[in-house]
Order: sequence, then structure tokens, then C-alpha cells
Amino acid sequence: MKLASRNVREEYVQSLAMDFLSVAQQAAIASFPWIGKGNKNDADGAGTEAMRNRMNLIDMVGRIVIGEGEMDEAPMLYINEELGTGKGPQVDIAVDPVEGTTFLSKGQENSITVVAVSSSGSLLHAPDMYMKKLAVGPKAKGHINIKASLTENMISVAKALGKNLSELTVMIQDRPRHDHLIKQVLDVGASIKLFPDGDVTGAIATAIDELEVDILVGTGGAPEGVIAATALKCLGGDFQGQLAPQNKEEFDRCIKMGIQDPGRVFTLDEIVKSDDCFFVATGITDGMLMRGVRKSDNGLMHTHSFLTGKGISERFQFIEAYHSLIK
Ligand code: FBP
Repeated sequence: MKLASRNVREEYVQSLAMDFLSVAQQAAIASFPWIGKGNKNDADGAGTEAMRNRMNLIDMVGRIVIGEGEMDEAPMLYINEELGTGKGPQVDIAVDPVEGTTFLSKGQENSITVVAVSSSGSLLHAPDMYMKKLAVGPKAKGHINIKASLTENMISVAKALGKNLSELTVMIQDRPRHDHLIKQVLDVGASIKLFPDGDVTGAIATAIDELEVDILVGTGGAPEGVIAATALKCLGGDFQGQLAPQNKEEFDRCIKMGIQDPGRVFTLDEIVKSDDCFFVATGITDGMLMRGVRKSDNGLMHTHSFLTGKGISERFQFIEAYHSLIK
């Protein structure tokens, strides 16, 4: 592949973002037939293939930094796979063709397809393991510290938002490992909003006033953490992450990937080092942020997407589109 000589710059963001909007839309449409079919892998495979096919048409030198796994475990969108025509800006790409694969296979809400893009070399190459996450919207930016207790963070965020603690809402993935977090929220009289799966949506929700979520906290996938951090960077919010290796093998994997101190805290600017970034998501099933794919009576596919990017004038956009099915 012929390599272009320059990094993505602001003037590219708008047009590249439109190309990637189509990537997300095509992945969501490809996953649509698998909703409720009880088959996570084929749903994920369909989204992955559609994403890859569409990305290969884009004028860019793209490299997957967060994808479906290492080369030997993923046939497509594996880490370090190069995508695009080989002409144009050099970019890092983080994808999750189906975020919430279990939802999708069970026909439940909140399954989305997501892509985050940033200048080449600027996205954290996070290993596929757990990460502790703390996310807030723009008004609380600079007022979080993942090393402090959740109670201390809630006090700090409430002050920044000009709210009483009882007015705070904290989104937490419904897992036994989060019981201590849920207790801290309830002990100060704040509200919990538990969700079964899909913490990228939860992180984004902190930056969208109408969704009335002040903090996302908890431990989830590190790849999803990088994707959520990119969205929050574009939205002007804040995010901190700390890898949580579960055993020696995972700890050693961090070191192998160049993370010398796996226990260190990653700030938002360390996870996404460039301002030339954007994030796109398309709903597969209905969810908190977007509606899912629908097939209209005339055979057109209807999609609902969310786009946010540093070079894009609006802070974020919701985009509805009708597509003819590509034969
Ligand atoms: P998948 O898309 O791989 O199904 O992940 C869904 C998800 O809920 C993520 O949003 C979250 O980060 C992670 O799983 C949490 O992992 P676990 O299910 O092990 O608690």
C-alpha cells in the first residue's frame, strides 16, 4: 500500500467523517437481519465485513488500532490491518462493528455500531482487557480523578455542575463488580441509572444534556474505553481510564504492548492525543441515543446516526437517512 506523507488535518475531518458515517450506516444495515436471531458471531461478522468493504473505498491510509482482535484471531479488522485506497490522510481507526452483541442477538435495545478516527499515531493501543472508566460531560471537565473515591468525584462534579448531590445521576453497568459503586451513589442520596450492556453509550450520555446523566463510572472493555474517550474529546467532555489486568498474562500483555506501568491513569489527552478526531455511531436496535435500523414499506432501509468531531461546526449531529439496499 502506498503511504501518504501527511497526517489528517482539520480540513479533512469533515469529508472523512461523511465517509465514515456511511461506514457505520452500512455496518448497521448489514447487522439488521441478525437482530433477535440468537447468533452473536454472525451478526458481528456481517457488521465487520460491511465496515471493512466500505472503509476500503475511502481515500486514506487507515490503520486499525482497536478492532476485532489480533491478526491470528480475527480475519477482518484485525489490529494493524491497513485500510483505504492508500491515498490521503493517515489515520488511526478504532471500531466496534456491534457494540452490544448480546443485545442484538436477543433482539434487545441499545445495540449500536461505532467508529472512532484520529490522526495516525494518536489513539491509545489499548489491549483487549478490562479498564476502569470515569466519564463526564463538558461542564464537569477537569473535575474528575479516577484515583479518588466515587464519593469524592460526585462531590467535585456536583460542585462543578452547581447541583446538590441528590440531583446527580450516575450511570453504572449492572454487574456485581460494581456493587461498591452503586452503594456509594445511594449513600449520598444521588441516583443510579443501571444499564445491562454498552458503556460507550453511557459515556456519551454524560455529554448530552437531555439524557440527564452526570457521570459514567465502572469497569468495562478497554477498547470501548478508547472509543468512548474519542467521542468525549469531540463533545468537550472528560474521561479517565486505568487498565485492569485480571491476571499475570494480561499484565504481561500490557508490557508487551509498550505500557510499562499498567496501573497508570490515562487522561483523555493521553488516550486521544490529537484534536483531529471524530466519532460516528449508528443504531442497530433502538436505544438511549439513537433509533435502530428499520425497513420501510418501499424497501428502503432507514438509519439513525450520531456524529461528533472536532472539525465539525455543530457539537454533535443526529442524522437520519434512507438507503437503497446494495445488491
Ligand atoms: P460487546 O459489544 O463485546 O458485547 O460488549 C458489550 C459491553 O457491555 C461493553 O460495552 C462493555 O465495555 C463490556 O461489554 C463489559 O464487559 P462484561 O460484559 O464482561 O461486563
